[in-house]
Amino acid sequence: MSWEALLEEVKSRPLPRHVGIIMDGNGRWAKARGLPRLEGHRQGALTAERIVRFVVKEGLFSYLTLFAFSTENWARPKREVDGLFALLESFLREKAEEFIDSGIRLLVVGDHRPLPDGLRETIEEVERRTEGNDRLTLAIALNFGGRWAILRAVRDLLRAARSIALGPDEVGEDLFRAYLPTGELPDIDLLIRTGGRLRLSNFLLWELAYTELYFTDALWPDFDEEALLLALKDFQGRERSFGKVVG
Ligand code: FPP
Repeated sequence: MSWEALLEEVKSRPLPRHVGIIMDGNGRWAKARGLPRLEGHRQGALTAERIVRFVVKEGLFSYLTLFAFSTENWARPKREVDGLFALLESFLREKAEEFIDSGIRLLVVGDHRPLPDGLRETIEEVERRTEGNDRLTLAIALNFGGRWAILRAVRDLLRAARSIALGPDEVGEDLFRAYLPTGELPDIDLLIRTGGRLRLSNFLLWELAYTELYFTDALWPDFDEEALLLALKDFQGRERSFGKVVG
């Protein structure tokens, strides 16, 4: 099937609202070429840019969450961590105007506090400048961990419970969900993980309860428009039951 036919087929069928991507394999991509790991991340940032542009151009879905840095990634060599932060900062700086013009809203989910000042200020500025956009909400999970997010929600709820006299039995799924850092985003319909590993690596946990999972061996820098369309086509062939009996 040609690329254009695949695009048309995918666009003619129900699409997910929210796609999450664990962008794995940058290090292996670089190693296979005898390059430093950071070169793999640099190439990975170009892939992220290309995928975001494609999603917006074709209007494929309204929410995209990319896992860029986990709470566990601090254990990597300092040079790699610093390099990743510098890369993210220049990515956000360079793309700010394009985000504004193309209707992209940026949201960075994760603990901002330990991030370098320059990166934190850039995030705040781009978030503020793109606040009114709604064509694509691009959420970047940065210094993010699924367990951190749940714990933070529990702590915030306990604090709130004191001042608004909230009893334990009044805490239902919807209320709890609203306290998560992704509170304003819908649950993820499709999760794509590149790089061949079959795990969640402490990405969104609560939000993935009924998500369709798609794993591919492609390393993130090699992932492209066609690979995304194949993942969407696979998703369209799934029967989502949400725990009920269907058919
Ligand atoms: C995992 O590959 C990837 C990361 C920890 C970083 C992801 C970051 C980017 C793609 C760069 C910038 C992001 C945006 C949104 C512009 P790995 O290093 O674990 O790869 P390996 O498993 O092959 O070692």
